[in-house]
Amino acid sequence: MVTTAFAPGRVNVIGEHTDYTDGLVLPCAIAPGITLSVTAKATDVELDSAGFGPARADARGANPSEGWGRFVGAVAAELDDLGRSPVGLRGEISSTLPAGSGLASSAALEVAVALALCAVADFELPPRELALACQRAEHRAVGVPVGVMDQMACVFGRADHLLLLDCATLDIELVRFPASLALVVLESGVHRQLEASAYQQRRDELIAAVRRVGRRPADLKTDELHALVVEADLDDVQARRLMHAVAENQRVRAAAGLLRRQPWDSDSAAALGALLTESHGSLRELFEVSTVELDALVAIAIEHGALGARLTGAGFGGSVLALAEADRAGHVLERALESYQRRFEHLAPTGLVARPDDGARTR
Ligand code: GLA
Repeated sequence: MVTTAFAPGRVNVIGEHTDYTDGLVLPCAIAPGITLSVTAKATDVELDSAGFGPARADARGANPSEGWGRFVGAVAAELDDLGRSPVGLRGEISSTLPAGSGLASSAALEVAVALALCAVADFELPPRELALACQRAEHRAVGVPVGVMDQMACVFGRADHLLLLDCATLDIELVRFPASLALVVLESGVHRQLEASAYQQRRDELIAAVRRVGRRPADLKTDELHALVVEADLDDVQARRLMHAVAENQRVRAAAGLLRRQPWDSDSAAALGALLTESHGSLRELFEVSTVELDALVAIAIEHGALGARLTGAGFGGSVLALAEADRAGHVLERALESYQRRFEHLAPTGLVARPDDGARTR
């Protein structure tokens, strides 16, 4: 019997670098993703991909092959720890999600593999446990202690909704995404791997600041920050990382507040756009995860009519998310890519217009 597992990519609308300090995020799943078609097999996992070559591991996750095989092996090992019986599988993987583009392709790979492995072994895992197992698999595979946002968005995505996720409790509130808006994803053409980026360094700097202050950034207010920074004796870098996280959590709350507002109008749309652009400024100045290319893409998208724009995902390359009125989104996409391409001739940017879509599934 052939099982097909599909796991989507995600864009994070707002709430960047907040998930690993128990903060708030507002992502959604999008239509591009990873599809895996498999059949059960005695003891080994054997996957092939036209673009990325083969991946191998044993059904308990031992002896994974290099490259993307590390993710496959790590997911199998995590599920083995949870009691999945070691049934192998053989199959093909295909993707419509560019890798290294800030759209959570590794989370999509982990979730697709996890769903397929569970299906062939008749192993039932609650969706939240599956997302957490995939998050741990990423640590195991490449040593990067990512937060839980990507895997949760991939698993729990819902068409036409954003997920207001509290990473401390894993509670999700579905927030409707207005029909008159669209998500314009602009991929900068600068690919990056998290393990080769300063992701862990930024995370360590913020966590050090949070430990000294003793409260999660989502529970702090910007007007008490100055006193806290002095009291906890934070150095300049820690202070800036914390300032970003505190204000970013507030922006998530503000964005969700705007989206809950009925009726939706052009003032709300403009205010939401402004929050995105503000978030980008903070990621650039205070959290220092932007790049020349991402800054240019944000400016160009706004110049061509976006309501606001920001880098989405970890940064250091990857994609910008621009928010646009649905009837202008195609124009923003086309003109922004043209303009960016003229400025960065050596890069091959791509893009798409998206709406929030459903999360991972098997059939
Ligand atoms: C990556 C990680 C997420 C999150 C973002 C930054 O996508 O996988 O857990 O930390 O970066 O918001």
